[in-house]
Amino acid sequence: MSVLRSFTRTKSIEQSIRDTDEPGHQLKKDLNGFDLIVFGIGVIIGTGIFVVTGRQAAENAGPAIVLAFLIAGLVCGLAAMCYAEFASTVPVAGSAYTFGYAALGEFLAWIIGWDLILEFTLAASVVAVGWSGYAGDLTGVPTTFEIAGLTVNVGAILIVVLLGALSTLGTKLSGRVTMVIVAIKVGIVLLIITVGAFYVKAANWMPFIPEARSVPAEETAVGHTPLTHLLFGLEPTQYGLWGVITAASIVFFAFIGFDVVATTAEETKNPKRDMPIGIFGSLIIVTVLYMAVSAIITGMRPYTELDTPAPLSEAFRSVGADWAGTLISLGGVIGITTVILVLMMGQARVGFAMSRDGLLPRGLSRTHPRYGTPYVMNIATTAVVAVLAGLIPIGTLEEMVNIGTLFAFVVVSIGVIVLRRTRPDLPRAFRAPWVPVLPIIAALACGWLMLNLTVDTWIRFLAWMALGVAIYLAYGMRNSRLGRAQREAAAEPTGSAVPHDAA
Ligand code: ALA
Repeated sequence: MSVLRSFTRTKSIEQSIRDTDEPGHQLKKDLNGFDLIVFGIGVIIGTGIFVVTGRQAAENAGPAIVLAFLIAGLVCGLAAMCYAEFASTVPVAGSAYTFGYAALGEFLAWIIGWDLILEFTLAASVVAVGWSGYAGDLTGVPTTFEIAGLTVNVGAILIVVLLGALSTLGTKLSGRVTMVIVAIKVGIVLLIITVGAFYVKAANWMPFIPEARSVPAEETAVGHTPLTHLLFGLEPTQYGLWGVITAASIVFFAFIGFDVVATTAEETKNPKRDMPIGIFGSLIIVTVLYMAVSAIITGMRPYTELDTPAPLSEAFRSVGADWAGTLISLGGVIGITTVILVLMMGQARVGFAMSRDGLLPRGLSRTHPRYGTPYVMNIATTAVVAVLAGLIPIGTLEEMVNIGTLFAFVVVSIGVIVLRRTRPDLPRAFRAPWVPVLPIIAALACGWLMLNLTVDTWIRFLAWMALGVAIYLAYGMRNSRLGRAQREAAAEPTGSAVPHDAA
């Protein structure tokens, strides 16, 4: 069989749905639209708004951080239309990976899945380290220790192991815990907006977009330069309109998670109705909250003073409202917990789907006989995230998360156009408007944000992808379940009558 045939073999939607009924590899269907919104908010609101906002306002956007959130939210909204169409057409676990397998062929599906592993695993690790920092700040207890010559973030390891155990016990239990935590988190965000409004000084919003200023070249290593600046031969600058765009490509991190909602399609009672409700509901709510929070914070304190580890609490302390600062820190610790949890669950589900298809070892997709969860994948995910969060100093890795996610959005957007052409017959509970114009704009917008990430991030991303291609060629291509079915069908005397899904 030629390599090209392996690359392009697609799994039919019907086959994807049939696979979910395979005994021992099934997930429980018990989530509804409201659960999905809660689940979405649970993972979306986290380190992005609690930490990244302050740094980006100080470094790149000033008060126009509000615009950066709007731009990032709009880009996500465009991609969400495409995500929602795919999710409502292919209601099985695996998110963009599964959609890619149906629309774009096995190789691109693998690439997307590999990319999502990068997104979820690194995002969970980054957020766990953020959680540990907040926990240490709140309790005054150190969370990082020197063990055998290594700096070990024990706080991050503990939270990852605890949450890994929760997700292994079942989505329902985790979902209930998530709901309580989301209520606390949204409450804290509303507190920031309502109490903070009394402390806003309009003078802090002037100038809204600080004037662009050059950064001396010797202070900006090439690796830290956005790729756009390199491509267009631009001088490194700070603030101005470019600064707002740069900030948008970084605060995009704060929106990551709405795509995770799509990974739960297989556990949703009525995915055709509930997926669009879950994806759009959570996205609209957080965009409004983010814009309001960033407007309040930049109004409370000069943007140049917002680059601190806990900018939201500190803005309140700076105006004498210490009680609110403490409450916000507590809310941050509680709220960030669900982000780690849902990202780890998303990772487990994508890995589960890839393993069920034979692109990763099959043993990884065994489900627990009692809890119905992909426990082998959960345990593997917990171990990897705990090691990364515990041992690797994570700073600029949040950019890696963004580039991986944006790339997945580009592929999904293109996939919508392809699937409309290749399978126009499929019922689509949600149809993205203005196809192909809207998906093309979505892909371009995501691509544009990707280009505004740094050269170092691009190099690391391409290295990760090259590793993924090597693993596919060495393992996935040979062990693919679809490929096996195809070979078996070809070997039989009636092999010429290969069904569509194996052809
Ligand atoms: N959106 C998530 C956060 O802000 C990843 O932490």
